[in-house]
Amino acid sequence: PRILVLASGSGTNLQALIDASRERDFPGQICAVGSNRPNAFALERAAQAHIETFVVDHQKYDSREEFDGALMAEIRRHNPDLLVLAGFMRILTTDFVRAFRGRLLNIHPSLLPKYTGLNTHQRALDAGDTQHGVSVHFVTEELDGGPVIAQAEVSIAPDDTAETLAERVQEKEHILYPIVVRWFCEGRIQLGTDYVLFDGELL
Ligand code: GRF
Repeated sequence: PRILVLASGSGTNLQALIDASRERDFPGQICAVGSNRPNAFALERAAQAHIETFVVDHQKYDSREEFDGALMAEIRRHNPDLLVLAGFMRILTTDFVRAFRGRLLNIHPSLLPKYTGLNTHQRALDAGDTQHGVSVHFVTEELDGGPVIAQAEVSIAPDDTAETLAERVQEKEHILYPIVVRWFCEGRIQLGTDYVLFDGELL
């Protein structure tokens, strides 16, 4: 399968996917990396790995619809089987999400359904939680609300700050995302109406 990764930032998750995809038995290939930010470090990581890149700068579009239209056109040129959001900091339109339904994954730094949206680490600390973590989920029309495929937990230490916690969650992200992408490429996970099937069984 052809994997297209979208990223806005430093791209450490992209890097984990690039590294995984280099393993001899990895069942997919990263065909392109796209960003809405021309200077995202993720683009440099892709270039280093000789992966094609493209930029659709959201600042050049008057509306979300126009931006998503341009993004979709770029994506279609690469004909991906799977679209992986890896720190892609734009909310996608329902038209976009519908067009890629069932083959659009996101990673979110919380134990969903807890803490959708931003500042998840600080919010977990403020709430006095003892467990935090990361979720990989199918993207649906609901922001950070699509069915969860897999999660990894981290324990919150009494002296944790948002930064130290984020660091430990990121370590888990870099393990979890390649595993889930591998499963997808192997045809093991499927999106039902509002649930996930793993090897044909309800998750
Ligand atoms: C990660 O923390 C991810 O969970 C969130 O955005 C961040 C991306 O980091 N969605 P990176 O660009 O992969 O380093």
